[in-house]
Parts: sequence; structure tokens; C-alpha cells
Amino acid sequence: MEEKYKKTTSTDMATLTIHGKSYELPIYGGSTGPDVIDIRTLYRDTGMFTFDPGFTSTASCESAITYIDGDKGELLYRGYPIDQLAEKSDFLEVAYLLLNGELPNTQQDKEFKNAITYHTMVHEQLNRFFGGFRRDAHPMAIMCGVVGAMSSFYHDSTDINDPEQRRVASNRLIAKLPTIAAMTYKYSIGQPFVYPRNDLNYAEYFLYMTFGVPNCEDYKVNKTLADAMDKIFILHADHEQNASTSTVRLAGSSGANPFACIAAGIASLWGPAHGGANEACLKMLSEIGSVENIPKYIDKAKDKNDPFRLMGFGHRVYKNFDPRAKVLQQAAHDVLEELGVQDPLLDVAKELERIALEDPYFIEKKLYPNVDFYSGIILKAMGFPTEMFTVLFALARTVGWISQWGEMITDPTQKIGRPRQLFIGETERNYIDIKNR
Ligand code: SDX
Repeated sequence: MEEKYKKTTSTDMATLTIHGKSYELPIYGGSTGPDVIDIRTLYRDTGMFTFDPGFTSTASCESAITYIDGDKGELLYRGYPIDQLAEKSDFLEVAYLLLNGELPNTQQDKEFKNAITYHTMVHEQLNRFFGGFRRDAHPMAIMCGVVGAMSSFYHDSTDINDPEQRRVASNRLIAKLPTIAAMTYKYSIGQPFVYPRNDLNYAEYFLYMTFGVPNCEDYKVNKTLADAMDKIFILHADHEQNASTSTVRLAGSSGANPFACIAAGIASLWGPAHGGANEACLKMLSEIGSVENIPKYIDKAKDKNDPFRLMGFGHRVYKNFDPRAKVLQQAAHDVLEELGVQDPLLDVAKELERIALEDPYFIEKKLYPNVDFYSGIILKAMGFPTEMFTVLFALARTVGWISQWGEMITDPTQKIGRPRQLFIGETERNYIDIKNR
């Protein structure tokens, strides 16, 4: 944690009264956002735990990386609004910003992009892991396995106490995730893996490794697609202490190496309630199929007895709009227009959004389109199969995960994460021989 960022130790105290006895708990403020009540002494002083399944009211750490204001629909990376970064920056510049806290100058930008470019190849033996997977394996299953296996190749960057090894591991992960992601796609369609090209930028060489077929034909970079890809990566790069980031932090708090921690984050992101929602959302739009069917699905989403949810809607933090969804809605329109793609699913998505935002249920529960609502439509138009959508999310979020991991490792107050529980099971009882059961 960089010295210049500190919580404010306010004089305010929170008073908690339990069974007639009062306890004083310190209140801290940050640079913006909700203040916190420090409850670290609560169990020692009261013998009681707090209870917060899903951590709806719990700050797990101090962080200076990403700030979200759910009511304003605001998302800041190191203080910079996401819409400005999406419009003016590029993904590796944003990666530098998230990792280091400041936008790079020209020299720093050049050096960082060089460092990433010259780490994009993977160890040739890592290719052999793919052969153990079925061709129809979900690419996220392969990502969990192959990224975790990186720790069996890069032993010279697994000492988490060595700043230089942490830097190299971060660069390796940021550089090699696109290569591995492209390999999962190539493996699924039975095409040969494609080596990266150092003359292309990050989004360009990812698209080249994914869709290029070298020796058979020359690959022409489509600037519109590469720019859209880069923008999608920026929008997905980080998002405060979401489920997968919290997974990475918890794994890292035990001292696990960064490759294993990122593999844990990939596993958590896969869930349809989280990063898997983009895949689930496109499948839902395909199932709805036409504008005429929307009311039926809106009713299903509102039916308490029906587990169906509108995928791509709702968010734990955003209770207004998700700023990323607004940027992606425009990008979806631009990419489809540029490609001359008429996708009826975009019409279904827009009409679904319009109807939902006028429906009292969604208004009352503050359910708005989130980052996953439009991303699938763009990715489908770009040629990605639905199963690859969450892989792309993981590729981009690796930058946020490794930035948050680095912040945790260097936070002098960090301890191994070890929550407690409210036990509701059987109390002590004696063993019964099977003949007496
Ligand atoms: C991501 O945390 C992050 O930052 C995540 C993320 C990131 O960048 O890392 O932003 C990425 O994960 C985006 C979210 C992608 N998930 C989906 O689109 C899946 C569909 N959405 C829901 O599953 C849900 O909205 C969550 C998981 C996103 C949020 O769940 P919460 O905060 O735990 O809210 P909840 O489940 O308690 O819902 C509150 C109410 C409930 O009704 P009641 O029990 O109060 O009557 O709203 C209802 C829910 O039933 N509700 C929905 C709904 N989402 C919530 N009803 C219909 N459709 C939905 N999508």
C-alpha cells in the first residue's frame, strides 16, 4: 500500500450496546465513499461475531485502486472515470495505471508495452496440457487448469516477498493470458496454435492469435474490431472487491503464488451470477428469440417461484446504471454497423432493456443492465463463440486481479483471511454403533 494513501482516523466512535454493556468502535473515513466501523476487536471484547453472508455491508480491505459509486453509476480507476479511459486510453496504459497508481509517461509507456510484448509467448511444453482436455471442454475449464499450471513453469517468479519476482509474475500473467485464451479457442476448433506477433498491439495480436490462420492466408488487422476489443478489455479490467477479486485476495492472503491465485479468480469468475453472465445473457436473448416473447420472460423474472433471472441485469453495487453498460451499448451499435451485421438479438436486448426499465418490479429493485448485458452481442458479432465470452472477461480482469493482489501483498496490515461462522448444527453427541442405529 503506497504511503500517500491513508485512511482518516477520525475521532468519531461508534457505540455498540450489548446486554446493557457499551463498546466503543473506531470509525474510519477514506478519500471518498462510505466510512467504516473497525470491528477487529469485537470478538475479543464481546465474544460475538458480526453476521454478513455475501458481505453486503463488509469492507474486506483498504484499497486505492478502483472506486465505484453505485448510486451515481460512477466507476473510477485510480481516480480516472471509466468513460474517459475507454475513449482516450488503451488497455496496457490502463494496466500500468491500475498496477502503479499513475498514468505512464511516454518512456514508462514504451518500456511497459515492450515488457509485455516480450513476455507473450508461453513455454512450449505448456502446449501439452491442452492435449489432456476434450476438444469440447468449456474453455474456462482449460483456463483454470493451464493458468494454474503456469506456476509449474515460472518458478523464478513465485517468491511473493521479492518485488522483482512479483513484477515479473504480473507481467507474465498480463502478457500470457491472451496467448492462452487464444489457444483455448484454437484447440476447440482443431486449428493449430498461433504464435504472437510483436509488431501488433495487445488487442491486435490477441485477435491475430485467435482468428489468424498463418501460412494459409495473410492476416489483416481490422482496426475497428481491435479498437472495440481494446475498449472491452478496459471496461472489464477491474471492479473493486467483487467475488473473483475477493477470491484472489483470499487465496493470496495464505501466501499462495500469483499464478495459483489468478487461477482461483478465474474459477470464481466462471459462475453465471458473475463473469459467466455474459455467456448466460446471450443464451437468454437467444432463448427469448424475438421481441414478442419478451413479456413472458419479464414475468418469469418477476415470479418468486421461478428461478429464472434476467441475465445481464442487476448488480450488488450499481443501484442506478452500470457506466460500463452505457459504453458497451454504444460500442455494440458501432461494431454491428461497421461489420454490417444485423443481429436481431440487439433489437431484443434494446427492447428488453426499455420494457424492464419501465417495469415497477425492476424500478423498485433497482435492476439495470450491467456490464454483461451488451458485451455478448459485440463479442458474437466479432466472431467469438458464446463459451469464449467469460474467457475474454478473465483475460481483461487479470490486470485488476494482479493489481489488487499486489496491493494486498504490500499492505503491512494484511493477515490471512479466516472468516468465522454462526454454527447451527448438532452440538456434541456420542458415537452410536451401527447395530444400534
Ligand atoms: C458481474 O460485483 C461485481 O462488481 C461484479 C461485476 C464485475 O465487474 O466484477 O460487475 C461483474 O458479475 C456483473 C453481474 C453479472 N450477473 C448477472 O447479470 C446475473 C443476474 N443478476 C443477479 O444474479 C444479481 O443481480 C446479482 C448477482 C448480480 C446481484 O445479486 P445481489 O446483489 O445479491 O442481489 P439479490 O440477488 O439479493 O437481488 C435483490 C433482489 C432479489 O429479489 P428479492 O429477494 O429482494 O425479492 O432483486 C432480484 C432478486 O430476486 N433480482 C433479480 C435480478 N437480480 C436481482 N430479479 C430478476 N432478474 C435479475 N437479474
